[in-house]
Amino acid sequence: MASKELRLESEKNNSQRLIVRDLMEVPDLDILEGQDVIQGLSFEPKSLPPKYFYDQKGSQLFDQICQLPEYYPTRTETAILERYGSAIAQTTGPCEIVELGSGSATKTRILLNAYTAAAYPLRYIPVDVSSTALVESSQQLLKEYPTLSIEGLVSTYEPALKALPSKHLSARMIVFIGSTIGNLRPDECNNFLARISKTLQPDDYFLLGLDLQKEISILEAAYNDSQGITAAFNLNMLRHLNRRFEGDFDLDAFAHIAYYNKQDNQIEMYLESVEAQIVRLKRLGLTIGFERGDGAASPSENRILSEISRKFNLADMEKALSSHQLSVVETFTDERQWFGLLLCQRRP
Ligand code: AVI
Repeated sequence: MASKELRLESEKNNSQRLIVRDLMEVPDLDILEGQDVIQGLSFEPKSLPPKYFYDQKGSQLFDQICQLPEYYPTRTETAILERYGSAIAQTTGPCEIVELGSGSATKTRILLNAYTAAAYPLRYIPVDVSSTALVESSQQLLKEYPTLSIEGLVSTYEPALKALPSKHLSARMIVFIGSTIGNLRPDECNNFLARISKTLQPDDYFLLGLDLQKEISILEAAYNDSQGITAAFNLNMLRHLNRRFEGDFDLDAFAHIAYYNKQDNQIEMYLESVEAQIVRLKRLGLTIGFERGDGAASPSENRILSEISRKFNLADMEKALSSHQLSVVETFTDERQWFGLLLCQRRP
């Protein structure tokens, strides 16, 4: 695959330890850019792929979300990792870590500390769509872990899983934490697990973080925080589209809506038009008309679905994993069973 490879000469000692390949900079694919936006906005119910949240500002807003008092998933998963990080290292033995959606790599440090304490070699392969987040966090990690080597991929998950560098250590663990799997529709989730299974060699590991089903008021508060950071994160997607596709979305003419859909066990996040309006995305040749939305917790033509965040049941997920030759070898949770961390192994 064509890719741009840059060796970052950040610091003398670090230059050989960091390689970043940018799989998004493939000129031939430029022509296809935005097809997912055209597809999503041309049919009812209108939707946009959540990947458009994560420009530089979106990644910063997401980091802020993770610190919010109402947003329990990050804190809860971090506590589980802190408690069981060394148990994970003991089970896997020396192994290189591939992290999908690495972002600022805050939780990664807990695993790296556990592998350091076990005196295992450290090799890290972060994958993220934001090159800024990936490069900045990698440079910081290299300073903190003098024996660490990093080979990062700026990419969405599917192309990255097909283009992973060859294995240097005897085992590999793909880490997909933060319950990002909840942002995939059931069909996408199924394809994703199939791809994970295909990518791993027998006996390799998969560490999966899952936000579990719980009281609706707790779930809805997490996506309607009192400081309005989640609303800013949602609306920023429109700013990103404006910049990328010469759009004229007026951010003041859309409102953030998030509620729990009990039937599908998922939070749904929308951008709803607050007035009758026409929006254009010039580079995509797209014109979209909206009437004024009603703010109700039910589907409407006057809003765009920007994200689903599914909430899981451990037994159901175990079955789904097993159907893809992934056996759960250990399950870690918190006292309230709000979040689950599954350590799986690829069956031979
Ligand atoms: C990245 N993902 C797991 C977050 C979630 O909770 O679904 C994204 C998010 N959206 C709003 N708040 C956080």
